[in-house]
Amino acid sequence: MKVLGIETSCDETGLAIYDSEAGLLADALHSQAAMHNAYGGVVPELASRDHIRHLIPLLNKVMAQSQCQSQDITGVAYTRGPGLIGALLTGSVLARSLAWTLGVPVIGVHHMEGHLLAPMLEDKPPAWPFVALLVSGGHTQLIAAEEPGCYRLLGESVDDAAGEAFDKVATLLGLSYPGGPQIAALAEQGNQDRFRFPRPMTDRPGLDFSFSGLKTFTRTRIEEQEGPCGGDLQTRQDIARGFEEAVVDTLTIKCRRALRQTGMKRLVIAGGVSANRRLRQRLETMATAEGAGLYYARPALCTDNGAMIAYAGCQRLLAGEQDPADAAPRPRWPLTEVGRIPA
Ligand code: KG4
Ligand code: ZN
Repeated sequence: MKVLGIETSCDETGLAIYDSEAGLLADALHSQAAMHNAYGGVVPELASRDHIRHLIPLLNKVMAQSQCQSQDITGVAYTRGPGLIGALLTGSVLARSLAWTLGVPVIGVHHMEGHLLAPMLEDKPPAWPFVALLVSGGHTQLIAAEEPGCYRLLGESVDDAAGEAFDKVATLLGLSYPGGPQIAALAEQGNQDRFRFPRPMTDRPGLDFSFSGLKTFTRTRIEEQEGPCGGDLQTRQDIARGFEEAVVDTLTIKCRRALRQTGMKRLVIAGGVSANRRLRQRLETMATAEGAGLYYARPALCTDNGAMIAYAGCQRLLAGEQDPADAAPRPRWPLTEVGRIPA
């Protein structure tokens, strides 16, 4: 089966073609980061308009890259939610019109299931079941992934998502959006011992997260420095390092707890923050000590992309699932409601 995947939930227009026999045939992306940067975050209306501008050129690009003709496409998948309603509508309308024109089935994919399954596109995919840490701009969740489509929520952020905290702290440090990669780069030369940031909610049982207090703590450290945005370069580097270290440490403590609690021996990390090098290193060490394996996708498949939507949609289409004609986008959609994918 050859599935066209369309991702438009937020600020990335991603299209890809996944072949259930041959793997990923084409993958193309347009990031709106530069456009939203001027506003310090994603402006929903601008996002929708920009998706409309880029969808057809990216469609032509993946068709050319894959050397597919339109009649070769046997299914269409798109992000049905969660996300920004206007942005979701652009992908949904294109996907459903194309599927109707081509006479093929269409499936709306849950964005976070796309992230969670992205490591399946790599050479050594994880076997089921596994613990999944989903860390993106909008979500921080620990999931017990029992089998395809069966996801049990173990814990989640009660306020800001990890990626959101990276983005907000980046703005305070005078860095551009999205902030995660910028903080990671600034932290490279930083001293992790100069500032000691809290590890929120690690001193009590449970698997929930909270990053809002850490963000406020960081804001205070930045504001007490002389000069704007945390002062001189070395101080800004030290703050970035201390903050990154605190997030990585907190996520690692909770992942270890989740592995022990479930007895599972595989940990999958997915979503934009899972591209973070320090997080991967720390989790690798922890997983090895626990006798568990760590799985993640290449960085380009950690952040938003069309490939993960094409892959996840393909699994559901192969199982015989498809959307009814009146399927509407679901801006809010709990991952636990997606339903099992029959083998
Ligand atoms: O999954 P994603 O592309 O979009 C959402 O579904 O939200 O995640 C984007 C988030 C942003 O907050 C970005 O700052 C963060 O992922 N991110 C990173 C890194 N790369 C992206 N955070 C930390 N380190 C990175 N290397
Ligand atoms: Zn995402």
